[in-house]
Amino acid sequence: MNYDEFKSAGHRLVDFIGDYLQNISDKPLFNPVEPSFLYDLFDEQIPDKPKSLASVQKMLEEKLLPYCTHVNHPGYMGLITPSPNPAGILAEFLVAALNQNLGAYSIGPSATTMELRVIRWLNDLIGYDERAGGNLTSGGMTANFIGLKLARDYTTNDAAQYDGMKQGWVAYVSEERHVSLDKAADAVGIGRNNLRTIPTNDKYQVRIDLLKEAIKKDKSQGLQPVCIIGLAGTTNLGAVDDLQSLHEIAQLENCWFHADAAYGGGVLLSKKYPGLLPGLDLADSVTIDPHKWFYAPLDAGAILVKDHKRLNISFGMQPAYLTDQSQQKNERYQFYVNGFEQSKRFRSLKVWVSFHHYGKTKIGEWVDNNVAHAKHLHQLAMSDQHFESATEPMMSAVCLHYKTPQLSNEENKQLHFAVTERIESEGNFWFATTMMKGKTWFRINPVNIYTEMKHIDELFKTLRDYCKEEEKKY
Ligand SMILES: Cc1ncc(COP(=O)(O)O)c(C=O)c1O
Repeated sequence: MNYDEFKSAGHRLVDFIGDYLQNISDKPLFNPVEPSFLYDLFDEQIPDKPKSLASVQKMLEEKLLPYCTHVNHPGYMGLITPSPNPAGILAEFLVAALNQNLGAYSIGPSATTMELRVIRWLNDLIGYDERAGGNLTSGGMTANFIGLKLARDYTTNDAAQYDGMKQGWVAYVSEERHVSLDKAADAVGIGRNNLRTIPTNDKYQVRIDLLKEAIKKDKSQGLQPVCIIGLAGTTNLGAVDDLQSLHEIAQLENCWFHADAAYGGGVLLSKKYPGLLPGLDLADSVTIDPHKWFYAPLDAGAILVKDHKRLNISFGMQPAYLTDQSQQKNERYQFYVNGFEQSKRFRSLKVWVSFHHYGKTKIGEWVDNNVAHAKHLHQLAMSDQHFESATEPMMSAVCLHYKTPQLSNEENKQLHFAVTERIESEGNFWFATTMMKGKTWFRINPVNIYTEMKHIDELFKTLRDYCKEEEKKY
């Protein structure tokens, strides 16, 4: 290994990343080339002839960078992937160099301890006591999967771990759930048809009356609740279910209560909007993703568990080849008997570094700024007769609908798609669309350190002008 080359390439790369972050707003956020162009661009054989790191970086600058979706751009307000905080970016560099494998304590003693500390911080934020535990995961999908696996094991008295899931178990969640919960229900053997998706009220919170009715009906047919799932910040709108009532129902039915705060958990850092997730600490398990609204670079999700013992009960298999003799004293924490993954990335470092470098208050200010952006956009839409905003935003997510009473539903949907595509192709903003209660919406969610109010004003003006122009085509 040529360490001189490594060092000079590293310095060059860090300079490049610094300049990239500093000048990102001058570049197009998205480059709308055809996918076939990119397939051709990367149509390469496995290289055999060595190249210098400098020339490899040059290739990256030419082939990769121009076609990235630049989530660091202030106009990125799309699917919930934050602008990563710069300290976290540096931390990820070190993670790769150290390559600690947190599956087993012996391949990362200090890293395991740091991971436990970050999990403790997250547990403190949601209000769990010292009995709590958890795991950092690849994201909310995996965390929700683990949450439902814990639920399945607990409610079946651990029988399902050995015998598989028998017929007759049902889980309940809002219609506004993230699809990860459907996938998790499938993966742990509950089955997607046995995930009851309950309608929401006008604030997009699950309807407790309809949930109770659904449980009653299922029980009358011999089915039993295995898990009640609450949403603490929906993907579309940041809506928060009545977690206290959901907890009561889970208690009554003697089943697990899982809360999905993958996105909404970030609001726990807010100074301006405290107490937005009442009852989160009542859940038996909580999904919360630092790689969403804590602005950590991917990947860092988390599953937090009120009673840490449930992790070992669900994942405690210990093959001989992983036995650590020095464990006799039982001091070494082994993630492999307390989680799903074996090889396990060192995810906590970037979260630990971010909290140490910026402090909780600063990260909370970023959260508050994004909430203010959402509230401002909502106000702009409310004062324009052509727009509808789904609800007053509690978090950073806003859904706007352009009203066209003279057009059919399908035409209105196509109008939303056309405007979104046009804005994407111009490279100044990026956001998504969604469907709720039979309508199409622009789904706009700044989880972004660099977005300012002027970007929100500009975005709304663009939306208004383009919607009008598109409408005239009909
Ligand atoms: C509420 C919610 N849960 C779970 C997920 C899945 O998280 P991930 O993409 O990190 O797997 C998302 C993603 O946006 C989400 O919004």
